[in-house]
Amino acid sequence: MKNNMIKIMLCIGLPLALIACSDKQESSGSPVANPNMGKTLASKNCVACHGLDGRGVTSDIPHLAAQAEVYLVASLKAYKEGKRTHAALRDMAAKMSNADIRNVAAYFAGLPPVKNPVKTESQDIHEKGKAASTACASCHGEDGNSVTQGIPSLAGQQPEYFISAVKSYLDGSRKFASKEKQAMVSALNQVDIESMALYFASQQPAQRKTPAVGNAAAGEPLSADCGACHGASGISSDSKIPTLAGQDAQYLVDAIKAYQDESRQQEAMHKTLAGSSLSDIQHVAAFYSIQSSRPAEEKTFSAKELADKCERCHAPGMENPMMIFPKIRGQNREYLIKALKSYRDNQRGSSPMHKMSLPYNEAVIESIATWYANQPAN
Ligand code: HEC
Ligand code: HEC
Ligand code: HEC
Ligand code: HEC
Repeated sequence: MKNNMIKIMLCIGLPLALIACSDKQESSGSPVANPNMGKTLASKNCVACHGLDGRGVTSDIPHLAAQAEVYLVASLKAYKEGKRTHAALRDMAAKMSNADIRNVAAYFAGLPPVKNPVKTESQDIHEKGKAASTACASCHGEDGNSVTQGIPSLAGQQPEYFISAVKSYLDGSRKFASKEKQAMVSALNQVDIESMALYFASQQPAQRKTPAVGNAAAGEPLSADCGACHGASGISSDSKIPTLAGQDAQYLVDAIKAYQDESRQQEAMHKTLAGSSLSDIQHVAAFYSIQSSRPAEEKTFSAKELADKCERCHAPGMENPMMIFPKIRGQNREYLIKALKSYRDNQRGSSPMHKMSLPYNEAVIESIATWYANQPAN
């Protein structure tokens, strides 16, 4: 008796993710879950959203079929205790006794896994980015290597800089080169933009034609003022700051003039270059344009490679005495996306998941979620 009390107190006090409690309760004689009673409850209260077969009726509602029983118990308790927030679930879980929770969890956990409809949509960021970038090739060239004077190459460029540049066209702070481009860029969504950013970043920048303007040797000493931000010989190592190496010289001249007259607004650039003469600008542009460049990112990871990081906890059969690992293969895609964003944005407690998802942008999250949704459920 005394032992049981201690166990129960421990269970209440310990974080949710501890697997030990429910196991030990079972073995120390607390009531065994009754899946038939769970089914009765499910057919009354859960069927509208999770089906009696445990299939989420829309893609943003999780499948419960064949989910780990301990995880189902833990998540219902998390709703009940307000650690996970979802209005409908919180109200429902609040009305459920611990026995109800055990029963309904046993019912759903005992069902065979459901199959997701096969998706044909690409799950890889590289393919997505490449597909979206074909629209830009008429000006920015194959793989982002422009051959037109005055038009920047995008190949090898830093990804966050690329994203902020695209945003600056969309918010009107930079002017679109043409109506055609405006229509193209406005049609892109966040995932397209991020996929393109990572795709272009991983492309090998080709050497541009020898500049018609300026004198590279005269530009070299002037570049001393730029290296702190743009990197030695113009290869930036900061994802927010553009690489200048190998860029078209005429474009560099135009861009610097735009900071001077503040049609492009960036204080550091305005201050650094406010007093430069046109010939200095041409020299420094010539210097950077002949520097050899390299991709800002080595490669764009495939969905499978991204998911590899998750497999050490989420691969079938993984166990850890300190954590409950939910099954995520074959889970609904929109639900996975939502769950990963809520960990990332710290709206759903779980420190290992927060750490995992913190650096993930929407393109990466979608790619991994699509991969897992397309795997057969285990
Ligand atoms: C109105 C629709 C609705 C009903 C009814 C409903 N659910 Fe849910 N359920 C959801 C949604 C949406 C989520 C995802 C919520 C979130 O993001 O936290 C969810 C999540 C869950 C989860 C967490 C799953 C996971 O993978 O983390 C469990 C467990 C669950 N529901 C069990 C139940 C049970 C048991 C019932 C019946 C007693 C029920 N739900 C009734 C919509 C519903
Ligand atoms: C009609 C030709 C044209 C097309 C098509 C075009 N661009 Fe551009 N783009 C330009 C020109 C010219 C510039 C440089 C002038 C400026 O600053 O806007 C530029 C600049 C950019 C820059 C800024 C680069 C930097 O280093 O700051 C980005 C980012 C960009 N384009 C993205 C795109 C994307 C993405 C597409 C396709 C969806 C696209 N462009 C299609 C002509 C074009
Ligand atoms: C304090 C940091 C800093 C210094 C120093 C600096 N830059 Fe920049 N530069 C930036 C940032 C940040 C941007 C991106 C601004 C934006 O988003 O428009 C930028 C953008 C540029 C661009 C536009 C590139 C493109 O693809 O459109 C050029 C060209 C440039 N810098 C040249 C120079 C030169 C030449 C020098 C030295 C004379 C210099 N910068 C010094 C921070 C700096
Ligand atoms: C160190 C172990 C660990 C790693 C690595 C890990 N996870 Fe998790 N994951 C967990 C734990 C523990 C939970 C349960 C947390 C909770 O109860 O909210 C979880 C929960 C989840 C959920 C919620 C499932 C549901 O039904 O609501 C998703 C989705 C998920 N992880 C996806 C991922 C993805 C994608 C990766 C790789 C980027 C990843 N995880 C890496 C341990 C891990």
